[in-house]
Amino acid sequence: MRSVVIAANWKMHTAPSDAGELAATIASRTRVDAPVERVICPPFVCLAAVRDALAGSGVAVGAQNVHHELSGAYTGEISAPMLAGLATWVIVGHSERRRDAGETDELIGRKLRRAIEAGLRPIVCVGEQLAERQAGRAAAVVRDQVHGILTAYGDATIGDPAADLDSAGVVVAYEPVWAIGTGRNATGADAAAMADTIRASIAETGLAELAGAAPVLYGGSVTAANIAEFLAEPGIDGALVGGASLKPDEMAGIVARAGLTAAARAGGAG
Ligand code: PGA
Repeated sequence: MRSVVIAANWKMHTAPSDAGELAATIASRTRVDAPVERVICPPFVCLAAVRDALAGSGVAVGAQNVHHELSGAYTGEISAPMLAGLATWVIVGHSERRRDAGETDELIGRKLRRAIEAGLRPIVCVGEQLAERQAGRAAAVVRDQVHGILTAYGDATIGDPAADLDSAGVVVAYEPVWAIGTGRNATGADAAAMADTIRASIAETGLAELAGAAPVLYGGSVTAANIAEFLAEPGIDGALVGGASLKPDEMAGIVARAGLTAAARAGGAG
């Protein structure tokens, strides 16, 4: 049974002076009597404040990015070992980093490797552009992303890539680029179809266990008002939330709905 995950991506919002208070408010407003995994991913400079504010709350802390090398002459970058004690999760391959920092599937696969080596739970993001969807290529694009990332991961790995991936608690976020920050969300049915594509694509690389075990989240203009449409799909296991994740009311509604799904799954009802 896959766990239900609600991850907050705060992007370039909040500062060390206010992040802890917001995180604590969200933690207290999202307490539910069901096994929902809650994660807050603030900017790097807010990680310590958010970690302190969330101590004992059951809400985990994640970073929004990690470098693909362990150390070296990379001005302004943060490596996976540096996150020790600050974060237990990390987002890799967000489309805004593909867009702004030129991140490729190959680089994202190497970041995934570093995250897993460091014991961080990765949220790996994939998703198509609007023009790609309009051209009927959405599934092919996402399939190529999954293959590219996992191939690069395998190439960067000494030992057994499959064994490491199976035990790393990998989460995949399907985030259609045209839905991010636009208020224009995908439909639940489209997201579920892409979750199937993601699982099939993972299985094609030989990682059958990961394909079945990895939670697949939807991301892109998720709100308290539309979360139910996604969680009604058995193949969708939660959400990666951007804009709405800065609003405690929104997060309360999103996690409350996720609690229903988590409770139903725990009770064997689906
Ligand atoms: P959004 O962002 O919810 O603001 O669309 C989602 C994301 O980028 O992870």
